[in-house]
Amino acid sequence: MPNFKSKLLYEVEALKSRKKAVILAHNYQPPEIQDAADYVGDSFELSRVAAESKAEVIVFCGVFFMAEVAAILDPHKVVLLPEMAAGCPLADTITAAALRERKKQHPEAAVVTYINSPAAVKAESDVCVTSSNAVHIVDTLEADEILFVPDMNLGSYVARHTANNKKVHTWNGCCESHHIVTGADVQAARAAHPKAVLLAHPECQPEVVEAADHVFSTGGMLKYADQTDDREMLIGTEQGLLYRLQKENPHKRFYSLSPKMYCPTMKMITPEKIISSLKTLRPRVAVPEDIREPARKALERMLQLAAS
Ligand code: 13P
Repeated sequence: MPNFKSKLLYEVEALKSRKKAVILAHNYQPPEIQDAADYVGDSFELSRVAAESKAEVIVFCGVFFMAEVAAILDPHKVVLLPEMAAGCPLADTITAAALRERKKQHPEAAVVTYINSPAAVKAESDVCVTSSNAVHIVDTLEADEILFVPDMNLGSYVARHTANNKKVHTWNGCCESHHIVTGADVQAARAAHPKAVLLAHPECQPEVVEAADHVFSTGGMLKYADQTDDREMLIGTEQGLLYRLQKENPHKRFYSLSPKMYCPTMKMITPEKIISSLKTLRPRVAVPEDIREPARKALERMLQLAAS
């Protein structure tokens, strides 16, 4: 007799094939959601998988902007976000109107927008980036002046690492789950785990990023953990990533850099909500065509430049 958890997963599987659906989950999702997903990845990997997917229905287990990206890239797919309240507080720090105002101050600058942003902001941008490709994409742009929005920590990381000393103007948004960690937290974690190598996400503050041994997107951390001979790692990103790290590397040890690295909206989707979404094909995320088309251009440019 299947237990309660496997009964839910069985129901998800059955509905998924009936509705010709695929489930995509971000690396920060709870374990039971990652286990139910067809693909688990970082923001860039998920946008590429969404763009290439042949499924008629995408169930996005992540936060709102991620589902919006899937809807921007292919308006013919039904894109479901099982919990509409799952927003990204970083994305909410900027609006298209505010960006238009800021652009007036830097008319020569290329507008480079982190994927953690609303569709209408992407529509005002020259190119989108994720944490796995931001430095590379800024390096490939012709412009010497960049307006980087909305994450100030990633923007500052790009400014410090761009190869040709571009002038980078930043926005004052940040991801609280990363920004909350300080240099003092790094010292305490290193003292508690002296043999561990520190991997930090570039959404962390500069003092944390500079104290890290390596800086990666969540996908980059997974790749590093798989390939390294290091046995112990301190993980400087949202703690949901630890489930997959430990599952894929059972003989290595992973510690969260800080218990403060927790994103509540990334934990709002449950198997029950996925089932309800698949049954009703609601709640659906769609983007008006006048916003979708320019936003698609900025995202497609990212997909092309990331591969260059
Ligand atoms: P990545 O998974 O691309 O590293 O991004 C983390 C994040 O901020 C998701 O909101």
